[in-house]
Amino acid sequence: MPRDFLKTSDWNAMELDELLASAQRFKKREDQTRSLAGNSVALVFFNPSLRTRASMQVGIYELGGNAVVLEPGGTSWTLEHREGVVMDGDKTEHLAEFVRVLGRYCVAIGVRTFAALKDWEEERADPILNAFAKYSDVPIINLESAMHHPCQAMADMLTIREKLGEGRKKVLLTWAWHPKPLPMAVPNSFALAAAQMGHELVIAHPKGYELDDELMEEVKGHGGSVTIEHNVEKAFDGAKVVYAKSWGGRNFYGAPEKDIAERAQYRAKWIVDEAKMARTNDAIFLHCLPVRRNVIVTDGVIDSPASVVIDEAENRLHVQKAILSELLNK
Ligand code: CP
Repeated sequence: MPRDFLKTSDWNAMELDELLASAQRFKKREDQTRSLAGNSVALVFFNPSLRTRASMQVGIYELGGNAVVLEPGGTSWTLEHREGVVMDGDKTEHLAEFVRVLGRYCVAIGVRTFAALKDWEEERADPILNAFAKYSDVPIINLESAMHHPCQAMADMLTIREKLGEGRKKVLLTWAWHPKPLPMAVPNSFALAAAQMGHELVIAHPKGYELDDELMEEVKGHGGSVTIEHNVEKAFDGAKVVYAKSWGGRNFYGAPEKDIAERAQYRAKWIVDEAKMARTNDAIFLHCLPVRRNVIVTDGVIDSPASVVIDEAENRLHVQKAILSELLNK
């Protein structure tokens, strides 16, 4: 079986550390190896992207390789992932063939497949990503699935390390109001990676917006301190890192109108603004982007010196080159 990069906890803390060190070498151009020379990598996008798509294409090019970008239902056939299905509906090709055919052309496959936010029990099992991993003979790289965005989390960890140095930091992951429910992949992966890196983690969200129970057990299992905070102002006290992200309530999967009604009460309060940042210990501000200005974060914060969101986006390129090199050269 090939090694995959599906979530950060498939790799241990020492391996993640080595990936970060490798990413720093790529960033400083100390490492200019062209580990993909003569090879192609498939990038399968079921959903839109700016950073992931551009940084993967550029990274593959810089490693000497070629990116094959496919959009099922757009530039390639619609895909079925379930087993034993009578395919007499709108799906033209099964992942069983799609993935194995791509494996004959490409040395790795990256896949983006968001949660549809329709069925919590089904989507929390990441069925499409896991079907890719099951059928593939080449490494699968998760470019954001229903439950995880590990490349983003690695860029986040690199950014924290670059800005604040190595070692444990007080890191706040805060929910923010957004006009519609969004998937949980980014907060899940950020929490997991922060715990693996030994940070002191505070997760702030209104009641009813809890992350997955199993995921939280895994986060706590890494031995660091994890605090859940429902008071958004208090959550900022003493933080060195503020990471904002909105996500949908798992009890509202399949009923977005109920989530939208529930979250309306949080609009004014659950935003990252100057007053909350003033409660921190000179924290840096991170967001995976894209971000809605003056909804998730005020202009005053995202345009301030505390904001490192552009460096964070750049770091996607460097960590993904490190991941690709590690997966394909072992
Ligand atoms: N952060 C991130 O994954 O950005 P894109 O959705 O633009 O790829």
